[in-house]
Amino acid sequence: MQHRVLTGITTTGSPHLGNYVGAIRPAIEASRKEGNLPFYFLADFHALIKSRDPAQVHQSSQEIAATWLALGLDTDNAVFYRQSDVPEIPELCWFLTCMAAKGLMNRAHAYKAAVQANEESGEDPDFGVAMGLYSYPVLMAADILMFNATRVPVGKDQIQHVEMARDIAGRFNHHYGESFVLPEAVVDDSVAVLQGLDGRKMSKSYNNTIPLFLPEKKLKKHINKIKTNLLEPGESKDPDTSTVFQIWQAFASEQQTEEMRQAFKEGIAWGEAKKQLFELINAEVAEPRERYEELMANPAHIESVLKEGAEKARSYATPFLAELRKAVGIYSFG
Ligand code: TRP
Repeated sequence: MQHRVLTGITTTGSPHLGNYVGAIRPAIEASRKEGNLPFYFLADFHALIKSRDPAQVHQSSQEIAATWLALGLDTDNAVFYRQSDVPEIPELCWFLTCMAAKGLMNRAHAYKAAVQANEESGEDPDFGVAMGLYSYPVLMAADILMFNATRVPVGKDQIQHVEMARDIAGRFNHHYGESFVLPEAVVDDSVAVLQGLDGRKMSKSYNNTIPLFLPEKKLKKHINKIKTNLLEPGESKDPDTSTVFQIWQAFASEQQTEEMRQAFKEGIAWGEAKKQLFELINAEVAEPRERYEELMANPAHIESVLKEGAEKARSYATPFLAELRKAVGIYSFG
């Protein structure tokens, strides 16, 4: 059976090395595998939940689209589109909203975290909580179910949302007849969760990222900011507690990893290890960076690629939504 693999990227922020290693690189590899039909999309409706800055949402959408294309996403094989170009998705979202139990949404992590933060600071529990945040798992279910995706590659934090999509799909099927395939979350444990400059998980919310397509000099500067300890050159260093080594591993071959492990034992200077890390990463990103810059300078091209992707996406979504409308009792009289 052909697997429909679907994942979305929320368009707030610039892609960083952690996104690249943890999500973009494996997704692009998967898109080249025979037998998969990948759906990759810019989750710009989701962006509005996190960001109320129109310039940021717009800029980020362009950067993310340019990034995926620059890294060689095969758009002949993958369906690559912008969520907001597929009006069937918000319509399906409403059908699903009417099926989703409120009690289920009460349990969503993102909402619960917001409530907890409010309670801890003595606020009303729902202070600052918009309906967008509350019902965000329903929109995510619509993204997935619109294309009857079977596999959804996500980080651990998103497993719950895929489970909710299954739950909502099951209710719909039970009530209106089999319409949806139940999707499965796929979490690839072999893919590294990259550490950031301060050693915590690389994440925009920690402000510890290394953006993916920084100009060379800036990339070097960022890499030099990775936190290390005070061991001197010649003193043996522990690779397994080092962020420099952890990032090295995500870009190096097995042999290069072994060589660096040895160099740590022999007391490589931090400055030297970082210089080598810069060279390794730069060798992988230099070519795509050029393509990225060309794409960013040519937004009309990005737009046309996304429009084509939206057409492809709608060739699935439009007839399927017509069936779903019929299933719920919304169709013409004659
Ligand atoms: N919520 C996901 C995230 O923040 C992004 C996303 C939106 C998504 N819709 C999706 C992921 C559908 C997988 C499938 O990472």
